[in-house]
Amino acid sequence: FKDVEEDADMSTPTLVSSLPCHTVTGASLRKLCRYQGFWMPEGWAAAAAAIQRRFEPRLDDVIVSSLPKCGTTWLVALTFATMCLPFLEGLFATRREGKLEGLPSPRLMNTHMPLQMIPHAIASPGGGGGCRVIYICREPKDMAVSTWHYFRRAYPELAFSDVVDLLCDGTMLCGPFWDHILGYWRASAASPGSVLFLRYEQLLLDPAENVRRLARFLGLPFSADEEKDGIVCGIVELCSLHTLSAMEPNRTGYVDPRLKLPRQALFRKGMAGDWKNHMTPEMARRVDSIVADRFRTTGLTF
Ligand code: A3P
Repeated sequence: FKDVEEDADMSTPTLVSSLPCHTVTGASLRKLCRYQGFWMPEGWAAAAAAIQRRFEPRLDDVIVSSLPKCGTTWLVALTFATMCLPFLEGLFATRREGKLEGLPSPRLMNTHMPLQMIPHAIASPGGGGGCRVIYICREPKDMAVSTWHYFRRAYPELAFSDVVDLLCDGTMLCGPFWDHILGYWRASAASPGSVLFLRYEQLLLDPAENVRRLARFLGLPFSADEEKDGIVCGIVELCSLHTLSAMEPNRTGYVDPRLKLPRQALFRKGMAGDWKNHMTPEMARRVDSIVADRFRTTGLTF
């Protein structure tokens, strides 16, 4: 999140200064503000407003979206292994969105923004406009565990119970998680051609089949010859946790040098159910009851 916190879009200072904010317990540097119902760093709130106003998707754009720590890196790698992937809020927060205009089509981007912040990504009811959005969702208890392991590298004082509180209160980065997930879930049900909704756990169970889904969604299904040549298995292997984490830039680079967050922190266990090793039964019950309540009648289960 490096550029955005320092170089917020100054065209909206009034907007940002008027937002309700809170500072994450145990991570005193991390001030989050509530913009249109979602918690994000000040710079991102300004970026969200700018994206809503000025981002013009092209029909063949592809946006990879997720809550943080839900398998973004993996999905990005699977989808666009060889291409540069602009981070929307990073560009808009620093007034560098002009770079987007210069990119050749199809453009590939990623974001943690809720769907409400990229409203033009979805075609209008008449069928006009829009682009393609690929969303990845993860079991919330595992998301909390992954979040803690990641951020405690920058904020060693951050307690796991603090992260669980933030998750449950809906005040975690880009939360409430239920509204973030449901925005994309409902859009994928209403417009399956616009939004592909993937699950981290299903990707773990059957990566090859999910790569095929991804390719079909992008309008690039694998041919019989490509299947015979083992292209799908090749992509899965190339993007496996083992391969990605061993790559030189991922071994030595930084996500954010200021916070001393090495890229290596993006790769940890990569499993489902690690929450069992971290949560007390009481914590797990608390999250599960929120999930049961928020996702009741939505058709989405965890
Ligand atoms: P864990 O911390 O539970 O291991 P993000 O990319 O959104 O930050 O998500 C990080 C999570 O995805 C981490 O989960 C990380 O280990 C896992 N991950 C990263 N690359 C992966 C891969 N190629 N396959 C499976 N999981 C991966």
